[in-house]
Amino acid sequence: MGRWVAEASEDLPPGPKLNLGCGMDIRDPGDGWVNLDYLPIDPDVVVWDLECGDPLPWADHTFKAILLVDVLEHIPHRSPKVKGEFFFWLMEQLLRVSAPGAKWVVCSPAPPQSLASAGHTRLIDRGTFLEWETTEPDSSAEAQYLSLLPRLRLLQYSVLRKWNWRQPVWFGRACAYGMVWEVV
Ligand SMILES: C[S@@+](CC[C@H](N)C(=O)[O-])C[C@H]1O[C@@H](n2cnc3c(N)ncnc32)[C@H](O)[C@@H]1O
Repeated sequence: MGRWVAEASEDLPPGPKLNLGCGMDIRDPGDGWVNLDYLPIDPDVVVWDLECGDPLPWADHTFKAILLVDVLEHIPHRSPKVKGEFFFWLMEQLLRVSAPGAKWVVCSPAPPQSLASAGHTRLIDRGTFLEWETTEPDSSAEAQYLSLLPRLRLLQYSVLRKWNWRQPVWFGRACAYGMVWEVV
């Protein structure tokens, strides 16, 4: 998984890049990285709780890439300031701060880990992005109902089967899903 993330984030466009829920994976601000987490892990971290429901503190179209590694499965369903499913609101925020052509590198654990962990609220897979996927004809009715625009094009989808500290026994099943999306 670590190697997939490293490879997928190797050729990201130059310019501002957001590392959302960075944890200990602090990326170099000199390379344009903004590291965000609600834990003040490092002086280079913008301390921000995504659950607060305040708009992300960046202008429209700021970022050329967003790294979403092992974070989206932590997003709650509700936030006091936001009406409805919070994930939809966060997605609209991430799309707002993404420049056209921005790449999103997404990696999230597969079942059973994704669903069993007490800190996880959801499984993140390709279907999570269905309402925004440009090539998904079935999503149009729901997307229209929710006033969502198809903004994401899938560039890469990988099922990662790697030894993982969270999954000490090798069952031969997926341990994570890796996706690269392009904002159109
Ligand atoms: C499993 S760790 C992944 C860390 C890092 N992306 C990596 O790949 O090593 C999830 C990270 O998301 C952060 N996080 C979870 N919920 C958050 C929130 N509401 N706002 C900001 N960060 C959050 C946690 O503090 C943690 O550092």
